[in-house]
Amino acid sequence: MTEIKTAHDLFVHNLKSIYYLEQRLRDELDGLAGEVTNDDLAEALQEHRRETVDQVERLEKVFEKLGEEIEGHRAADFHGHFREIKQLNEDIYETDMLNIAFLDAAIKTEQMEITTYNSLIRIVDDLAVDDDIENLLKDNLREEKEALEKLRKLAGETWFSKIVKSLT
Ligand SMILES: [Fe+2]
Repeated sequence: MTEIKTAHDLFVHNLKSIYYLEQRLRDELDGLAGEVTNDDLAEALQEHRRETVDQVERLEKVFEKLGEEIEGHRAADFHGHFREIKQLNEDIYETDMLNIAFLDAAIKTEQMEITTYNSLIRIVDDLAVDDDIENLLKDNLREEKEALEKLRKLAGETWFSKIVKSLT
């Protein structure tokens, strides 16, 4: 573990954490989309997987602009989030239940990403770094917010509450 002493160190640490999360999402979103039976949810996950490919590349550009090695940090919260999703997948046999559990997990994922991008953007202004870095991070943040809106909309639709009612 590298000691975090400066705001720049903290920025790089958090950058490595979100890079780890985005890489895992890029690698696993298609598989998770294949587990759900709701077409709209599957499509939303697949679409966000395509966006995530670009997001990973933007983060790699940020590393390059900082002159830092491109590497992920297996942050405990993000790693734990994936473990929880895998556990849900093992524990849930009923497809409707899996649809609503995965939709909620996807909403949580977006919120975690948004929180991390906001914290990176909050301090980047005060660091002596290339201006493009902020724009790259803002591009990712915008896509996460749009993805979150889509998922929230899905959760507000009648199929979701019908499932919840039928499973009470
Ligand atoms: Fe993302």
